[in-house]
Amino acid sequence: MTQSNLKLLTLYKVGDVPVKNRVFLAPMTRSRAGEGNVVAPVTATYYAQRASGGLLISEGTQVSQEGVGYPATPGIHTSAQIAGWRVVTDAVHAAGGKIFAQLWHVGRQSLPVFQPHGGLPVAPSALADQGQAYTATGPVPYGVPRALETADIARIIADFGHAAQNAKLAGFDGVELHGANGYLIDQFLRDGSNQRTDAYGGSIANRVRFLAELLDAVIPVWGAGRVGVRLSLAVSRPSLTDSDPKSLVAAIAQLAETKKIAYLHMIQPVAGVMLKPGQPDLAPVVRQHYHGTLILNGGYTRDVAEAAIQAGVADAIAFGVPFLANPDLPARLAANAPLNAPQFDKFYGGGTAGYTDYPMLA
Ligand SMILES: Cc1cc2nc3c(=O)[nH]c(=O)nc-3n(C[C@H](O)[C@H](O)[C@H](O)COP(=O)(O)O)c2cc1C
Repeated sequence: MTQSNLKLLTLYKVGDVPVKNRVFLAPMTRSRAGEGNVVAPVTATYYAQRASGGLLISEGTQVSQEGVGYPATPGIHTSAQIAGWRVVTDAVHAAGGKIFAQLWHVGRQSLPVFQPHGGLPVAPSALADQGQAYTATGPVPYGVPRALETADIARIIADFGHAAQNAKLAGFDGVELHGANGYLIDQFLRDGSNQRTDAYGGSIANRVRFLAELLDAVIPVWGAGRVGVRLSLAVSRPSLTDSDPKSLVAAIAQLAETKKIAYLHMIQPVAGVMLKPGQPDLAPVVRQHYHGTLILNGGYTRDVAEAAIQAGVADAIAFGVPFLANPDLPARLAANAPLNAPQFDKFYGGGTAGYTDYPMLA
């Protein structure tokens, strides 16, 4: 394939946002934020280097202190954090790019050390994630979280609404709700982690209610055409399960259709560490119920991505590790050029090495 016939590199419109190609930057935490969870100035360089992607989606960005689960990750709930992000969005825009903020609350995937007043992390139900938290001093098992009171839920929804407003002040082009990877929204969606007996648990409609109310908080700020949702319902692990992911994703796709949001962004791995045997293929279910943009992600290479776009399986592909290691990924895909190898030991934390020093094509 030559540059001229790669559909991946054609103009597209995501909701209300025109983009120059369908090669998107997947959200990736890089743990380089400074004091007060403010993005580092070098982060502006990192994103601006990748501005040739059609749409950049920021690393997970906390809507509140309660939403923090890792060291050196940025937030968007203080004025210093907003000012830090403004430097990033200005740099991306100056380089001709577009960037959405990924709004994040980790729920139970946190530790008291990250919480306001050292309290327990919160979740839909008092069920521990079986994974481990990363701390400055090494991995620590997650504890049993505090089950949210019904009244707490309204407060968290308001936190997302404020964060959406802050994302506007910070100059983003839109927002993505982080409903993937076992964090708070995902914890509400799946019946393995949500065993509530109030209006937010039980039936699929009840488990989707939290996401629906978040959309109601965020859409008035941005307009539906600048709001997306990320999901990873095809991927499960022992403490993150759902008994019927196809029906669940169908309900979410119907919600997305009703609300007319800009996109659904699904981790539907075709290769890589997230690909699991027996993983359900949820993309066709989404297509059946939702007519907006479908972004797929997870182990895509140039040719597999192009085939998915050509076949209409997806409208755009988000690249994670390949874009992390290749700031000029669209140009490399166009030229079918070799890719830089990722430096795994520099994914999280550190300075510019393995962050802003990956070479561009000569
Ligand atoms: C270093 C790193 C950080 C990540 N951080 C996030 C994140 O903040 N939010 C998110 O939704 N996914 C995150 N992910 C998942 C990626 O967005 C993506 O789903 C994953 O890398 C698979 O895509 P790929 O095969 O193209 O890399 C992260 C992945 C990596 C490698």
